[in-house]
Amino acid sequence: MKVAVLGAAGGIGQALSLLLKTQLPAGSELALYDVAPVVPGVAVDLSHIPTAVKVTGHGKEELEQALTGTDIVLIPAGVPRKPGMDRSDLFNINAGIVKTLIEGVAEHCPKACIGVITNPVNTTVAIAAETLKQKGVYDKNKLFGVTTLDVIRAETFVAELKDLDPANVHVPVIGGHSGTTILPLLSQVEGVSFSDEEVEKLTHRIQNAGTEVVEAKAGGGSATLSMGQAAARFCLSLVAAMQGENVVEYTYVQTDDSDDAAFFSHPVRLGPNGVEEILPYGNLSSFEQKAKDDMLEGLRGDIQIGVEFVNS
Ligand SMILES: NC(=O)c1ccc[n+]([C@@H]2O[C@H](COP(=O)([O-])OP(=O)(O)OC[C@H]3O[C@@H](n4cnc5c(N)ncnc54)[C@H](O)[C@@H]3O)[C@@H](O)[C@H]2O)c1
Repeated sequence: MKVAVLGAAGGIGQALSLLLKTQLPAGSELALYDVAPVVPGVAVDLSHIPTAVKVTGHGKEELEQALTGTDIVLIPAGVPRKPGMDRSDLFNINAGIVKTLIEGVAEHCPKACIGVITNPVNTTVAIAAETLKQKGVYDKNKLFGVTTLDVIRAETFVAELKDLDPANVHVPVIGGHSGTTILPLLSQVEGVSFSDEEVEKLTHRIQNAGTEVVEAKAGGGSATLSMGQAAARFCLSLVAAMQGENVVEYTYVQTDDSDDAAFFSHPVRLGPNGVEEILPYGNLSSFEQKAKDDMLEGLRGDIQIGVEFVNS
């Protein structure tokens, strides 16, 4: 198993790479790529941790070496938010970064599964899809927007509110990965009930949790450590699925469901080739149905921006 992290010297990239170095199966390879000159040093640093995972570092001109033979590509490359910014404010810089890196993936490891972390995820995943289509190598089963952070935040906040062990709390989160497009399905949390007021407050907190971190970091970036954990969970689930385990994760994938949006987070059964099966997200409460109806136009617009960026 070879995993490549593109943007590996950044806040998310380093946290994620540390978790993968310590948790990937023995015999795996972890390739770190970044345009920042520190990346070979990050690789040397990690290589001193005694696990049977080989780490290599690749600078700006070495994307090919990082990607060749790769099974899973994770992309946290790009700029994060500062206070007052929306995820869509990152589009101008991050769209081009994602397009360039995906062109590299198309050339050097076209069969790899790709997890896009770079914001705005609602749009960057569409950019990745269109870029892969242009290169003739798009496989909708192998492209994922990583929305696991919304799931782990939802689980943490529900556990806090209800005084539960977060390890035993499971919260479905569907939709997209920005503001109101993030839709936690609190009506489906097993063994827990919420008042209407709790549902409203919790939903709002989950949707704005990224901003909580951005404001607390006061200009120093957005979520990196919790995002590293979320991306590692997603990657390790994909690795387990590729090795034959039955794994379901919520993730932003192409759905072909014209009632929702072209890309939408669903529970997805993962398998050796990426998406094994997109599972239905079940019945929504009237609050959730209204929230979904209200956000769909915005999500579809975010996706269209990505489609036009590549094709115009
Ligand atoms: N999906 C999510 O839930 C989620 C959560 C938090 C942050 N993010 C996003 O992840 C991205 C990274 O956040 P961060 O806090 O790690 O930022 P960061 O600035 O700490 O790190 C970004 C890294 O990307 C590198 N980079 C820039 N251009 C590159 C290129 N062309 N090729 C390779 N590497 C390149 C930079 O050198 C830097 O090391 C941001 O877009 C942020 O908004 C996503």
